[in-house]
Amino acid sequence: KDVVSFYGKHQSGITTKPQNHVYFAALDVTTSSKDDLISLFKEWTYAAASMSEGKPIGELTSNEFLPPKDTGEAEGLSASNLTITFGVGPSLFVKDNQDRFGLKLKQPKELVDLPAFSLDALEEEWTGGDLCIQACADDMQVAFHAVRNLIRIARGKAVLRWAQPGFQRTKQADAKEGTPRNLFGFKDGTVNPDVKSEKQMNEHVWVQPGDGPNWLQNGSYLVVRRIQMFIEVWDRTNLKEQENTFGRYRDTGAPFGQKNEFDKLDIHHKQPNGEDTIPVDSHVRLSHGDGSQQILRRGYSYSNGMDLKTGSFDAGLLFLSFQRSPSKQFIPIQKRLSSMDKLNEYISHRGSALFACLPGTKNGGFIGETLF
Ligand code: HEM
Repeated sequence: KDVVSFYGKHQSGITTKPQNHVYFAALDVTTSSKDDLISLFKEWTYAAASMSEGKPIGELTSNEFLPPKDTGEAEGLSASNLTITFGVGPSLFVKDNQDRFGLKLKQPKELVDLPAFSLDALEEEWTGGDLCIQACADDMQVAFHAVRNLIRIARGKAVLRWAQPGFQRTKQADAKEGTPRNLFGFKDGTVNPDVKSEKQMNEHVWVQPGDGPNWLQNGSYLVVRRIQMFIEVWDRTNLKEQENTFGRYRDTGAPFGQKNEFDKLDIHHKQPNGEDTIPVDSHVRLSHGDGSQQILRRGYSYSNGMDLKTGSFDAGLLFLSFQRSPSKQFIPIQKRLSSMDKLNEYISHRGSALFACLPGTKNGGFIGETLF
């Protein structure tokens, strides 16, 4: 009952209802052999499909003179809605001007490093990657177990480059399963395209025929931004200012001028004195734009203990968004935000990566089969 099928036209973990936890990992490929890469994806597919069903990888009673095939910490735990989503980064195709695996001609025009945005404070240790694994589950041990075992399988072929766990309030703590609140205390995830509408998903999320190379059809682009939130500064900011930053009320999550969370944002609404109801530099006004660019946000909060450089919390948002075209969706939105979002006083983008999430596969096939 808490199993999400690994197989399908699309990979799971994109339109799947967000689970409680994520463990995100970016990897660097160390092998120079295309055959190795193909066998890695085959092994990953087998392992991911097993783990998604809540099963260990391989026989438990393996040779006692060898390390067990599965590391064991998910033994006896349920599948916990585990989804594992794989992606490939620009550097898998070309790195240091080298066509590493003879895939150069297959690199989509959209799969290139994101442009530098103003105020970016990116650090190498949270940036880029040849491959990615997004493991989401309602149990952190299950999510970590998945990534740990996939990294273990990759030994000799790929290594971990960076990783970031994240959380949302658990469904246990919130029986109503309302929109989770972010670390600034605001409901986050209210406005998103409808994952149940195939039409909307085809328009905003899934790569369509004619968008680029055929191998990515039914896949999606994933933008990852590791955004630190200066929670200490925020906590000294008055409520009015906090609400002006987003253009929504903290308590209800409703947009200014409205009552309920899901009431429509009326961007052109003016107060009787002629002032804009939704401040022009507020986060929702700028991210909404004219409403034509929509992305599927599926982010998680993170808290990594203390930021050793400043003595403050290293906490924030692991922003994850899926879209059909980064250049037509994420990039123009982020350009507007980086130039004048009031939220910029309280956040800093410290990590970034772009991946093409491969289409799904059937039982018997493997993730990446259309690429190689
Ligand atoms: C809306 C928080 C970064 C795009 C919102 C909302 C909140 C929020 C509270 C209003 C509720 C909702 O609709 O979910 C944050 C925080 C961020 C952040 C705390 C950074 C730490 C970003 C980034 C992007 C983005 C980097 C994309 C470039 C959006 C969009 C909406 C939104 C598209 C919906 C706008 C609409 O009403 O149409 N965000 N956000 N956000 N945000 Fe962010």
